[in-house]
Parts: sequence; C-alpha cells; structure tokens
Amino acid sequence: MPENVSEHGGAASPADDSIWHWRCKVNGQIIERDLPASTTLLHALRDHCSLTGTKGACEEGECGSCTVLLDGAPVNSCLVLAAQTQDCQVTTIEAMASGRKLHILQDKFLAAGAAQCGYCTPGLIMAAAALLKQHPDPTPDEFLQGMEGNICRCTGYKAISEAIRQAAQEWPTPPEVP
Ligand code: FES
Ligand code: FES
Repeated sequence: MPENVSEHGGAASPADDSIWHWRCKVNGQIIERDLPASTTLLHALRDHCSLTGTKGACEEGECGSCTVLLDGAPVNSCLVLAAQTQDCQVTTIEAMASGRKLHILQDKFLAAGAAQCGYCTPGLIMAAAALLKQHPDPTPDEFLQGMEGNICRCTGYKAISEAIRQAAQEWPTPPEVP
C-alpha cells in the first residue's frame, strides 16, 4: 500500500514558483534538476527525467498508480514534492527489469493476465515489490494492507493477487527489489 507519507506532506501551493535545485538518486543514478518548488515527485520523474513508467491518474493520493519506492518504502509520488526527496533514493518501475529480463513480478503479471489497460500496473508492481520485500510470505492481512491503496479499474483483483502470490512462491526470499 502506498503511504500518503504525511511526513513528506502534500503538494505545495501552485503559487509557489520559486526554483528548487533538486538532487536525488533515481534508479541508482544521481539526478540534478532545477524545478519549480511546487513540482511533485510524480511530475519531476515524468516531465523532467523522461521516466514515464510511473503513471498519474487521480493525482490526489487515491489510486496508487503513481507508486514509487522512496528510500525503499512505497509512496504516492503525486503527494510528495520533489524537494522533499532531496538526497533520497527513488526507485521506479523502470528499474525493475534487468535489461530484457523482466522482474519476476512483471513476468507473473504478464502470465496471469493481470494487466489490461496497464495504467495501474507499474504502481501495483512497485507496491507488491515493497510488500514482498517486507513480507516474503504475506498473510492475508499483510497482503491486504500492502495492496489496498492500489486500484485497478479493469481486471478485478483475482489475477493481480494470483500474480503476486506466484511471484512470492517462485522467487528466492526475499524477492529482489532494485
Ligand atoms: S495518481 Fe497518485 S494516488 Fe492516484
Ligand atoms: S489494468 Fe486498467 S486500471 Fe488496472
């Protein structure tokens, strides 16, 4: 479940147009950009780093499509300012595959038919990666807690749950998260 991370706050006032020098390690690479201080992490990644795998749907913290890992924890990147990730580590869906080899979660989503439009899929995979890292064999409650912030409007959740459970079973524990 992506956290709304109150310690990271919500979006700044759109009127805040001062420039912030953002420095952050994204997918293992130090990135530096001059951004309006009100830029969310979601838009910093998509619009300023060409990392468009992370999706923005509601941009209100309701759907989880924008989930990324911030210092290893899942967050809704639409609710986090880039400035609040200064010198942090961010992991996005782009870091999950290794070259042409899909991450086991991606593999199992594909095999289970757990994606239709695919808009929710990157966020689901990042949330699932965080869940399995913390709970390699999640109880039903842990599973629910870990995934309840991620909404899929197309598939229902059976195939998604199956894909995550299969990934957990077939990957040496704990599943690798970049
Ligand atoms: S786009 Fe961030 S929670 Fe929906
Ligand atoms: S596959 Fe379309 S929203 Fe989940």
